[in-house]
Amino acid sequence: MTAPSLLILAGDGIGPEVMAQVRRVISWYGDRRGLNFDVSEDLVGGAAYDAHGVPLTDETMAKAQEVDAVLLGAVGGPNYDDLDFSLKPERGLLRLRKEMDLFANLRPAQCFDALADFSSLKRDVVAGLDIMIVRELTSGIYFGEPRGIITEGNERIGINTQRYTESEIARVARSAFELARRRSNKVCSMEKANVMESGVLWRKVVNEIHAAEYSDVELSHMYADAGAMQLCRWPKQFDVIVTDNLFGDLLSDAAAMLTGSLGMLPSASLGAPMANGRPKAMYEPVHGSAPDIAGQGKANPIACILSFAMALRYSFDEGEEATRLESAVEAVLAQGARTADLLGPEGGTPISTSEMGDAVLAALDASV
Ligand code: IPM
Ligand code: MG
Repeated sequence: MTAPSLLILAGDGIGPEVMAQVRRVISWYGDRRGLNFDVSEDLVGGAAYDAHGVPLTDETMAKAQEVDAVLLGAVGGPNYDDLDFSLKPERGLLRLRKEMDLFANLRPAQCFDALADFSSLKRDVVAGLDIMIVRELTSGIYFGEPRGIITEGNERIGINTQRYTESEIARVARSAFELARRRSNKVCSMEKANVMESGVLWRKVVNEIHAAEYSDVELSHMYADAGAMQLCRWPKQFDVIVTDNLFGDLLSDAAAMLTGSLGMLPSASLGAPMANGRPKAMYEPVHGSAPDIAGQGKANPIACILSFAMALRYSFDEGEEATRLESAVEAVLAQGARTADLLGPEGGTPISTSEMGDAVLAALDASV
């Protein structure tokens, strides 16, 4: 059997630093578990722009379509603020999502017990939290036409369009219902059906799919603003949240803070099954490129490491090995290992990005 292929696109800012720790974890799986991957690397975002004048080359795009999974670090940075919109680092990431048709973005927000005091919310609100946000990733206002900045008379007008087809809503709803069945069997769908037609259709289609195929799953609906409030008030009421691209972007950053730090949240972006049965997939931490701390060895590699755990589970059917990695992270946090983002109000001495990597590898060693 040939080793499954992984394309690493470390990107910008802290992307390369956190991805370096993931590379060590990947090597560990080869050395210690006989799980080998055929790893290649390429450029995305500002790094690709610096080398090639575009945030993603056609060659890299083609490679991403061929591999079993893509691991992405982060894109963006202040050097690129003045670039034309089509050349911005973020366009590289959005092109990958769109052309690979990665419509279901899974963002699990789990609060590890050792971090329950680090959240900005009270311990009892977040301890034991385990929710999954399923964000639609390839449509909605991120991609809708018309878009642009036009001039009418002597006024400039900025335009974006929220647009959802019923099949786009149906497929992400199915992903959410399928996931719920393997969890606590509850889905809450969020939109703004009170003000947006796209929200009215969203709610209708989710209800139809539910009635026809998933009536065993408990379904509720919330307006996204109320949902944001409930996420902060009592997040444990949720199991799976399904929502559109823009609301999902906002709600998942909010959910990240429930877990103690944005540096903890992994994600999986999944599309339709490929010929080999594996879904098209890209795995990336939810945090961005954090230019303010880039290159200083301060970044927390856990979100990126946990994204690789998601790859083990969702692309490679290695659920037990994914759990091994997640447990290793949990053990390391329980031992008190803290990068700077994980220090509570009482402070303490942070460890570096690579020291966090050392700790995770040691915990993996201890697990076999
Ligand atoms: C995310 C990010 C991206 C998004 C940016 C970097 C384009 O915020 O993955 O949440 O808005 O989707
Ligand atoms: Mg975001």
